[in-house]
Amino acid sequence: MSGSSDYRGGFAHFMLKEICEQPQAFRKTLQGRIQQDRVKFEELNLTRAQVEQWRKIYIIACGTAYHSGLVGKPMLEEFLGVPVEVEIASEFRYQNPLLGEKTLAIFVSQSGETADTLGALRQAKNKRAATLAITNVAESTIAREADYNLHLGAGPEIAVASTKAYTTMLIVQYLLSIYLAQVKGTMPGEKAARILTALQELPEKVQQILDRKELYPEIVKEIKNARSLFFIGRVLDYYIAMEGALKLKETSYIHAEAYGAGEIKHGTMAIVTDETPVIAVAVQKSVYEKTLHIVREVAAKGAPVLAVVEEGDTEMQKWAKQVVYIPQIENMVSPVLAVIPLQLLAYYTAVARGCNVDQPRNLTKAVTTD
Ligand code: M6R
Repeated sequence: MSGSSDYRGGFAHFMLKEICEQPQAFRKTLQGRIQQDRVKFEELNLTRAQVEQWRKIYIIACGTAYHSGLVGKPMLEEFLGVPVEVEIASEFRYQNPLLGEKTLAIFVSQSGETADTLGALRQAKNKRAATLAITNVAESTIAREADYNLHLGAGPEIAVASTKAYTTMLIVQYLLSIYLAQVKGTMPGEKAARILTALQELPEKVQQILDRKELYPEIVKEIKNARSLFFIGRVLDYYIAMEGALKLKETSYIHAEAYGAGEIKHGTMAIVTDETPVIAVAVQKSVYEKTLHIVREVAAKGAPVLAVVEEGDTEMQKWAKQVVYIPQIENMVSPVLAVIPLQLLAYYTAVARGCNVDQPRNLTKAVTTD
């Protein structure tokens, strides 16, 4: 790499640097937080009475941080037995939501300065909800104003497209689910232990995906000239698909939409052709066959399919034009791995199209005005 890239650690762009930093970022995020099969947060010391009084939890955020909340919700609900709503901050704050002392409102924000997320936080505080921030900037306004703050520890994120902040947001939300369940006494022991083991496997398994990044310039040839494409998946895979579509849009300026795989049949299938590549995420075992069924349908319409599946899968290659494999891991934690190929797709597509990868047009790193 040339001297001018030295400040990017030898990488051509900050986005690639930050994608590749994920193994170290994960280690930092996890550091000291798993002790003898239990989660410990230096920043949190909640009592059982506090956690028991929360009858509803909101996760409130924007953009990529919002997508992280969608992945965080199922584990929180399952481990705590409390309903969780995930809300877009810019909508939530104008909806006069029902918040009160029996609500925990969680605000997720890389920068900790996003105006809508901050506005929603202030509204929640006015309504006496307990507020917990998850941010990457410990001294940010959101971190300072919330009752509690959990730090991502991802290290500085410079590229406008968020990558390592997103994956560390997932990790912190998994840890938080287990922590709250421990305190409340509702922890499903065996499952939580499996998740904690999986979290510790993440740095090494992400590295395995990153070690194959040189394959992506070839892979993206199929999508780089598309005018429009679709990302599909079901449940957790769908939320990853949403993040993949956003990443591709903002870095490559290609129109991309994410659909719950089954939903694409309800109208959008009319515009699926050989000119609309489909990126399918099919990692969640409980819905794998169902997603495969839709992959077969879109392939039958001529759409070139690029699928993300777990290693060991032998079925998808029969229908998809290209298949990217990720290491096997506990299914609930798999979004952290499944999103990495989508980050690499967005990056290498943007490079192939000559886009301004780190500073896409019309965008800023932190949206501090509403
Ligand atoms: O700093 P925040 O996490 O609050 O930012 C929220 C969004 O603006 C941000 O995630 C945005 O969607 C990213 N550019 C996506 O890559």
